[in-house]
Amino acid sequence: MRFKNRVAVITGAGTGIGYEIARHLVQEGASIVLNDLDTSLAHQAADAIQSEGEGKCVAFPGDASQVEFAQQIVKEAVIQFGRVDMVVPNAGITMFGDFFSFKPEDFQKVVDLNLRGGFFLTQAAAQQMREQGQGGRVLLMSSVIGVQAAAKLTVYAMTKAALSMMAKNLVAELSPYQITINAVAPGATVTDRTLQEDENYVESWRQVTPTQRPAETSDIAQAALFFLSAEASQVTGQTLIVDGGWTATSPFPYDKES
Ligand SMILES: NC(=O)c1ccc[n+]([C@@H]2O[C@H](COP(=O)([O-])OP(=O)(O)OC[C@H]3O[C@@H](n4cnc5c(N)ncnc54)[C@H](O)[C@@H]3O)[C@@H](O)[C@H]2O)c1
Repeated sequence: MRFKNRVAVITGAGTGIGYEIARHLVQEGASIVLNDLDTSLAHQAADAIQSEGEGKCVAFPGDASQVEFAQQIVKEAVIQFGRVDMVVPNAGITMFGDFFSFKPEDFQKVVDLNLRGGFFLTQAAAQQMREQGQGGRVLLMSSVIGVQAAAKLTVYAMTKAALSMMAKNLVAELSPYQITINAVAPGATVTDRTLQEDENYVESWRQVTPTQRPAETSDIAQAALFFLSAEASQVTGQTLIVDGGWTATSPFPYDKES
């Protein structure tokens, strides 16, 4: 019950990594405002998490790439639970595309969600934490693709590298308020989306990952919970890669096709 009486806001958490972080937090007593763009998925996820956890979970559907949304979800957390202690801007789009024909509107879409949405949600939550005067936790969702080059993922890679720099850079302005900011950089992780993109996803990544398996969402959630915990109060500005050793060797299963 490390997170009893603590309140978190998590975006893009109807499924995948965000869902698993929310589930673990509620199991350990936290109260969560869970966002997803898909309204029914957000409600289903919040109900499922609430029914099996010790804490509380309410749905707040909406588009996490919108600046006004950032203000609204923080306000909702205060209305529902009286405060905000943790924020996880997890929602992100992975968009593959050839550099030579990449469209400005697609560039904008990726940057708006992966960067702008996370930046302004962090700002809104940190303003609330500063007002509360009891510190806080920001956890950004980067990627191994922000560390290691991959063909046809340039814009995604740029946003994920930028999130690590955001975590480092904001140390200067958040530390005086005892707000830590860190990032997790997942490697290939089994989710509904990644299985849809490649039905052989588990085998493809097993072959190129030193631990001989892609990550499960719970692997990422365990790392996230450390950064969000009281025990991590001296850890800030860091990015933790959780990839079964892939970036140490970096083979890419799709190299031959790209
Ligand atoms: N899965 C991986 O292998 C992997 C690896 C590295 C990094 N990541 C990062 O982790 C995060 C979560 O990835 P995932 O694979 O679990 O997610 P996902 O692609 O499965 O999406 C999770 C949820 O986000 C929602 N969503 C999409 N756009 C949204 C928006 N504008 N506002 C609110 N919600 C929105 C979707 O409806 C979906 O339910 C992302 O930032 C992703 O870039 C994932």
